[in-house]
Amino acid sequence: MTHVFRGGALRHTIIDATLAMPNGISLAPRQLTVTKKTFLSSPCALFPSFHHLSRIITARYLFPSAPKAPRVNALYPPIRNLPHIHRRNATMSEKLIPKEPSKVQVIRNVTPNVVTVSVPFLRFEKIPIGGRATIIKLTSGALAVFSPVALTDEVKAKITELGGNVGYLIAGDIEHHIFLTQWKTEYPAAKLIGPKGLPERRKAITNDPMIGKEEFDFLYDEKNAHSAAISDEFAADFEVELVTAHKNQEIVLFYKPDRVLIEADLMFNLPPTEQYSKVPEQKNTGGLLKKIFYSLNSTAGPAKGHKRLIWFAISNSNKDRPGFNESIKRIHGWDFNTLIPCHGDTIEGTGKETFAKIFDWHINGKK
Ligand SMILES: [Fe+2]
Repeated sequence: MTHVFRGGALRHTIIDATLAMPNGISLAPRQLTVTKKTFLSSPCALFPSFHHLSRIITARYLFPSAPKAPRVNALYPPIRNLPHIHRRNATMSEKLIPKEPSKVQVIRNVTPNVVTVSVPFLRFEKIPIGGRATIIKLTSGALAVFSPVALTDEVKAKITELGGNVGYLIAGDIEHHIFLTQWKTEYPAAKLIGPKGLPERRKAITNDPMIGKEEFDFLYDEKNAHSAAISDEFAADFEVELVTAHKNQEIVLFYKPDRVLIEADLMFNLPPTEQYSKVPEQKNTGGLLKKIFYSLNSTAGPAKGHKRLIWFAISNSNKDRPGFNESIKRIHGWDFNTLIPCHGDTIEGTGKETFAKIFDWHINGKK
C-alpha cells in the first residue's frame, strides 16, 4: 500500500533524512510518496529526538497495523545484535575479513610517517562503510597501529619497510579489536592498548578463534582519559583523549609531528570511496538504507544529518553530553590538519575545519 503525505510534519521527517543523500532522492516540493512499511522500518523512524518521536507516534496512529520499527539505536544496537562481536556465532569475525584482503586493501602513505590500510567493510552486513587501520611511525622509530585490519603479506612488507618495530597495538574503541590477536601473534613485543571494558568483552567471546585472551598492557579509563603516558616515546609524539561519554569508549589520537588526528567511530566520513576503490561494484549494496545512513554520516555541505545524529544520539549515548562536549573541546584544541577516520575517506588539509563543522554545537553550544 502506498500513502501520500502532503505537506506537514511527516513529509519533513523524511526530507530531513534524505536531503543530504549523495545520490539524492527527488522530492516534489509539496508531495512525497512512501510505503508505510518503508517508512516505519527505516532509520527515519529511529531519529532520537522528541521532535521526530512525535512524528513516529503520528505514523503509528495512522498505520496501527504496520510492523513496528525495531527498538534499537540506529548506530548502537544492543551487544547481542552487533555483527562485530556476536557471542553465539563463531564465524562472525570471519565475515568481517574480506575473502582475499590482499586484493582489496589500499596501502597508502598519508604523510611521511603515517600509513593507512583501507579495506571494504559492511555495517550491519549490508551497508558499505569501509574500515581502516592506521600505522604511525614514532620519532623513536617504533610503530603504533591503530585499529588493526587484516594482516596480509603486503601489510607485513610495509611494516618491514617502516623498520619492523611494532611497539603498540591500539584498539580504537570496544568494537575495533577483532584483529589484535593476529597482530600480537606476529609482533609479540607490541604493547596492547584499549579502552576499559574491552578485556571483559573479549574474554566473554569463547567460540571465536580470532579473539584471543591476551592481557592488555594499558587500559584507558576515567583516571587516565587525557594521558599519553604509556611510555616516554609515546607521550613525546601523541596527545590522547578517551571519550568516556561515547558508548564505544573512543580512543582519539593526535600525532603531533605530522598534525594528524586518528579516530575510530567518533565521526564518519561517508561514502567510503578509497576503501572500495579496488572493488567499486561491491559498494552497490544497501539500497535506501545505505542512502539514509550515508546522509547521516556525511561531512559534505552543512552536514545537518551528521550533526543531528551525533548531537541527539551519540553524544548522549551514555547520558553524559556535557562530558562528551568537554572531550570534543579538548580534541578541538589540538593543532591537526588531517583527520583519519576508520569509516569513510581521510580528510587531508581541512580536517580541523571539518571537525569543527560536525561538532560545532558541542564546541560552541547548540543554537
Ligand atoms: Fe567502527
